[in-house]
Amino acid sequence: MHQIRVCGSIASPFQIKLCGAATSFPVSLGVVLSYSVPMILGFLGKGGSGKSSVATQMTLHLAAAQRTVLAVDADHNMDLSYNLLNGELPSLRFLGDSSLDIMAYAGLNNGERYEALFLTKTLVRFRLSPPDSFTGKYTFPIREGLALMAAGPQTDAVLYGKACSHVLTTPLKVFLPLLQLAEGQAVVVDEKAGADGVSTGIVTGIDVGVIVAEPAIHSIKVALQIAELMDFHETPYVFVGNKVGSDDDEDFLTEKLGQKPVAALAQSDRIRRDPSHHMLEWQASMKAVVAAAEIRIRHDRLARTMKKFHRNEAFSGA
Ligand SMILES: Nc1ncnc2c1ncn2[C@@H]1O[C@H](COP(=O)(O)OP(=O)(O)O)[C@@H](O)[C@H]1O
Ligand SMILES: [Mg+2]
Repeated sequence: MHQIRVCGSIASPFQIKLCGAATSFPVSLGVVLSYSVPMILGFLGKGGSGKSSVATQMTLHLAAAQRTVLAVDADHNMDLSYNLLNGELPSLRFLGDSSLDIMAYAGLNNGERYEALFLTKTLVRFRLSPPDSFTGKYTFPIREGLALMAAGPQTDAVLYGKACSHVLTTPLKVFLPLLQLAEGQAVVVDEKAGADGVSTGIVTGIDVGVIVAEPAIHSIKVALQIAELMDFHETPYVFVGNKVGSDDDEDFLTEKLGQKPVAALAQSDRIRRDPSHHMLEWQASMKAVVAAAEIRIRHDRLARTMKKFHRNEAFSGA
């Protein structure tokens, strides 16, 4: 395990310097990629399909490609946080505890629901760099160009049944659609397992879903359920095969998904044993995912989210 130390002034979570050779992250891949389309990628799929592992690799890939990357850990298991911090979880400010701050930042009065923001209120915006006060407070700098936001672990309110674990990610329903990204910035969201990642309402706040599926019938079944919900929310997505052991596995995925996955990631002992390790052999696959996402992106997160809230409002009033 590696200890991460940061130094220098933290004017922005993305403007930090790393002290010494503190992490195992490669500084450069040799080839400098320069994707610049700003985007929020959301990793979805059945539990165990590999969302957190692949989201980790995408984060490391984008950061190595000189993108400014915010990794958002929306799962209370916090695997993405663990992976990006090499197993060291420092004291973070969790999104699960940010409701009052986000309401205040958004200008909502006591008792007003956050839905009001998308129905009637003047819209506020969030920014990564320089960060607004909310983003700055809830973002943990990992190294220059890479920062983390985490929903956080289960709270007592969740454990003792006073609240459902979804409250931990409620702030993301406000943050993601209203996040204004600049060229060269990217966000990777590691979602909760299964259709929950979609039905909890965060998904309209992402630009493109990356649905991870193993070549196993139940994994594919869940991937297709997620895709159907994504279609309902008019949110684009791509499929990625993971733990693909053979050409036969890839054909099986293609046949059952009804389309060829944009990438097929092989079984890897390395990723199982050391999920913080940057898998350079997956670089071509990560590039293929980004390229496919760039084709599908429509830059309409906010419009889709407003449409969703208006539809919900009409439904509850019907
Ligand atoms: N390509 C792969 N090869 C081998 N094991 C993998 C691969 N991808 C993920 N795993 C392993 O599968 C398990 C589930 O992966 P994880 O990323 O936690 O899935 P999820 O976030 O979808 O629940 C973990 O033990 C992980 O190490
Ligand atoms: Mg996970």
